[in-house]
Amino acid sequence: MADGTMLLTPEIERETARVWDKVKDQVSPLEWRAYAPLIAEINRLKRERGAVILAHNYMTPEIFHGVGDYVGDSLGLAKEAARSDAKVIVQAGVHFMAETSKILSPDKTVLIPDLRAGCSLASSITGADVRLIKQRYPGLPVITYVNTTADVKAETDICCTSANAVQIVEWAAREWGVDRVILIPDEYLARNVAQQTDVKIIAWAGHCEVHKRFTTADIADMRAAWPDAEVLAHPECPEEILEAADFAGSTAAMTDYVMKHRPARVVMITECSMASNIKGDLPDTQFVGPCNLCPHMKRITLKNIRDCLLNMQFEVTVDEDIAERARLAVQRMVDLPPPEVPARYDLVRARGHTVQVELI
Ligand code: 13P
Ligand code: SF4
Repeated sequence: MADGTMLLTPEIERETARVWDKVKDQVSPLEWRAYAPLIAEINRLKRERGAVILAHNYMTPEIFHGVGDYVGDSLGLAKEAARSDAKVIVQAGVHFMAETSKILSPDKTVLIPDLRAGCSLASSITGADVRLIKQRYPGLPVITYVNTTADVKAETDICCTSANAVQIVEWAAREWGVDRVILIPDEYLARNVAQQTDVKIIAWAGHCEVHKRFTTADIADMRAAWPDAEVLAHPECPEEILEAADFAGSTAAMTDYVMKHRPARVVMITECSMASNIKGDLPDTQFVGPCNLCPHMKRITLKNIRDCLLNMQFEVTVDEDIAERARLAVQRMVDLPPPEVPARYDLVRARGHTVQVELI
């Protein structure tokens, strides 16, 4: 082919048969003719380069099932980056994830297929902003969501993800001996955490551009059309969305929930690829309802993953001084025991805590 892509030969068909089986309901046979040779080529290049691909749950099914060596949520990917003994990490995700891998594995080459894969939360705050916040609230622990730049992490006491935010807020309040903490930059995550703890939260008005678009009308419409559907929502959504949902959790927690409970119908209030990636394993579950695409995650394609490994591009580096300070915050999070995920948590309804949030 003109762009150097191989053709779908019987050998490649055999090699990729397992993947086709997983994606055949999400990918058309025409698309597969282009994808299967790329998958075979990427898997060969990975062996040659001693590389692993860490793929986020929001990658498209052909990436998630075809080339991801490790797939998971932000917490799982960070832990895997710390654990992996590969020489090269290809981050099939967004830039802050690649930086986190580099911070945890400074001796590895970390590549991202498209340097423009950003995040509205990461771009909502800078290291200079955090320095000002620390001046305004001296002595309080600073917890930053992992969806931040290395510069921000360098100003941080401990990072968190949506999977462990409550645990880390409570840990930091205990360690510092305080009743309030700074949890930035996701306002909605902060408000949702505040529903589950007595610790007062100081928050920043950053938002995920994907999750903030969901409305309670979306959920009401779904409940009217499918009264038996279970509604799962990501904690980056506004509070009223989680209040209307049956379960809230990180992308990995949502996956675990449907795998364990196998509901007949489910609505996943999050990025569209989540449902596409698990559908194949749940033939008896019907996925209904709205989803939004993350334009940053969608910059990653099989073709640019292939180019990334072929040309060893684009390397993500972090200034050593910043990386050293940021490492303390990320490593502290990684070293804490895994968070407990309740079998079913009715976020707002069950708690009765006084919700205390101060927006900076
Ligand atoms: P988790 O995978 O940690 O749930 O995060 C979702 C997200 O938006 C990552 O960018
Ligand atoms: Fe950022 Fe939201 Fe996209 Fe995740 S889904 S990368 S939080 S913009």
